[in-house]
Amino acid sequence: MAGTVEFHDRMLSLGLARVSEAAAMASAKLIGRGDEKAADQAAVDAMRTQLNMLDIDGVVVIGEGERDEAPMLYIGENVGTGDGPGVDIALDPLEGTTLTAKDMPNALAVIAMGPRGSMLHAPDVYMDKLAIGPGYDQGVVTLDMTPAERIDALSKAKGCGHEDITVCILERPRHEDLIAEVRSTGAGIRLITDGDVAGVMHCAEADITGIDMYMGSGGAPEGVLAAAALKCMGGQIYGQLMFRNDDERGRAEKAGITDLDRIYGRDDMVTQDVIFAATGVTDGSIVPGIKREVGYLTATTILMRSKTGSVRRMTYRNPT
Ligand code: FBP
Repeated sequence: MAGTVEFHDRMLSLGLARVSEAAAMASAKLIGRGDEKAADQAAVDAMRTQLNMLDIDGVVVIGEGERDEAPMLYIGENVGTGDGPGVDIALDPLEGTTLTAKDMPNALAVIAMGPRGSMLHAPDVYMDKLAIGPGYDQGVVTLDMTPAERIDALSKAKGCGHEDITVCILERPRHEDLIAEVRSTGAGIRLITDGDVAGVMHCAEADITGIDMYMGSGGAPEGVLAAAALKCMGGQIYGQLMFRNDDERGRAEKAGITDLDRIYGRDDMVTQDVIFAATGVTDGSIVPGIKREVGYLTATTILMRSKTGSVRRMTYRNPT
């Protein structure tokens, strides 16, 4: 019976990978073509088609926007055949539309799925974010600390100097003071132009990516997706919603949020076990991007389950 079937994360995970693969592959022909909207639309269409083939009774909780501004994969949209477990879906068919249009690194097609009620219904506002990878005591860094205090605490926990810490930050005018304070400690900064889901995920594989910590504000929906990724990979993320006006506060209230100042931890944003899939669109440190050969496209996906902590990377070659 729809909605009452158990959430079999293991059985559903390959289906989830197919969904992110389809989105990434559909946007492949638009990599480097300077058209963000077309790339996003191609990913959205493909993701929706694949998602609707899954035997789930799904609801989009993190999606392309409110129903009136997003014709597809809008927040509240029912997806799947309806014949299966009741699930929440968080998705971003193309995380890094500009990265794709300019063929810059780390654009991903991203989706997470968990039992109904497992994910924060984050409104489309900014979120102040702080993330580190696994292996540290809970709360070793917090959003209440200043950026310099966080670097000091993390370097002590890691057993290194400030100069051995690298922080990932979105390059935005609003982050000028943050960047200056982090640099004043001696720590390094990897500036990214977009794509903070990948930015946060980098912390979970610090030995490969060289990123120890993520700081700064970005989209709240991306914060929930990043929390789902770290729930599978290990690591901590903290997020606090930021409001610029009453309209944004209204969006939060509409999403059912009553404490507008709350600091969310990873397990507050994602409260139950989830599965997560991300397929590379452009080349990145987490997964390679779509490889184009005459007659074929090859996609690489990272597919993870928080219940087991399993992280699987897999490639899929398909004739074009
Ligand atoms: P899009 O893929 O929708 O373009 O978003 C990319 C992104 O960089 C996110 O990763 C990030 O959370 C957000 O935009 C930051 O927003 P802004 O560009 O307003 O600083």
